[in-house]
Amino acid sequence: MKKSIIPFYSSSDRIVEKSLGCFQYDSEGKKFIDFESGVWCSNLGHSHPRIVSAINEQSRKSLHSGYRFRNRESEQLSLELLRIIGFEDGASVFLSSGSEAVDLSIKIAKRLSGKKKKKILKIRNSYLSAYGYGELSSDNPHVVNAERNDFECLDRIDFSDIAVLVLELGGASVDTVRFPAIDYVQKLAELCRENSVLVIAEEVTTGMGRLGTWFGFQTYGISPDMVVTGKALGNGYPVSAVTVNYEVLKKLKNDLFIYAQSHQNDPLGCAVGVEVIKTFEEEHVIENCLKVGECFKARLQALKEAYPNVVKEVRAQGLMLALEFCESTDGSKLNERLFKAGFVVGYKQNTMRFLPPLTITEREIDMLIAVLDALLKNEYALINA
Ligand SMILES: Cc1ncc(COP(=O)(O)O)c(C=O)c1O
Repeated sequence: MKKSIIPFYSSSDRIVEKSLGCFQYDSEGKKFIDFESGVWCSNLGHSHPRIVSAINEQSRKSLHSGYRFRNRESEQLSLELLRIIGFEDGASVFLSSGSEAVDLSIKIAKRLSGKKKKKILKIRNSYLSAYGYGELSSDNPHVVNAERNDFECLDRIDFSDIAVLVLELGGASVDTVRFPAIDYVQKLAELCRENSVLVIAEEVTTGMGRLGTWFGFQTYGISPDMVVTGKALGNGYPVSAVTVNYEVLKKLKNDLFIYAQSHQNDPLGCAVGVEVIKTFEEEHVIENCLKVGECFKARLQALKEAYPNVVKEVRAQGLMLALEFCESTDGSKLNERLFKAGFVVGYKQNTMRFLPPLTITEREIDMLIAVLDALLKNEYALINA
């Protein structure tokens, strides 16, 4: 097939024919197990039948309705998000991508913090959205980096001109799956509270069950002022949300600004989000994430023990896992071999990343581990020859 897509990222030449559950099939009929959930979006598995039905049903009613009407689907999704987040009497707004939602949440925080407080605090190597305020502009004078797990660094931060903390609790985008310590995050959140700095839980990747709780902040026992969701909220359909607590809502209503996008609060995306949450609960998806996540972690740790000169470290929380190789190992070669063998995994900085659908079973994990084991055995034999 002639290529006419701008190659902003590199992909293989294979053409996808079907994405179903934990699997993707290419045009030659080859089957892949997807340990990336697309781009960490399909937490219920690709084209989950309940999501497909919700899309079909809602698209017969209203895809998009415009600003002159309210719609039931967005109201319903907001109530569901408020319930699972634990915000009483807060509110949400819905957009399409995680980046848009992060951007808007920062805009809200800056608005409420006054003109003098311009800076955004984050833990170093957080993603901080794809545009606007992000790390892409590394000389961005408005970004302050807290060094992960460095308590002394927290003491040196000047909070007086910081408007907001954008907190990512499991970095897989810029970072290679690293988690801040619980006491560090709690201290950071406490300092923000003492200094009137709003806290945004940026849950675009960690949200919707990925870490074994609905949201990462619940794993860390902190109370944010806003929560941003995206990716898995639509299970592959683009919908994202900013959800604010009652205090933020009250202040915002007193100083509201106009913010309107074409696909804001669209009924289709919101109907999908409602069905995603229902499916999570009725199919006990988070329970599966915890159970299978433990087993996956144990299997990776067993590989580390078996091949100590090849595997440097295993990092894991729920179904966000990483296997970092020792410097002497060429992880990219192993990644290519895994792909040829029918496994899609993430790879960066000599580290393999695994964020499979939360519906994955031990069977698919065992299949991956068996192939990985054979590859590592070979590598180990070469190193020790
Ligand atoms: C933590 C985090 N936030 C935001 C985003 C951006 O989301 P989107 O690609 O939907 O704009 C990503 C994308 O990978 C992410 O990992």
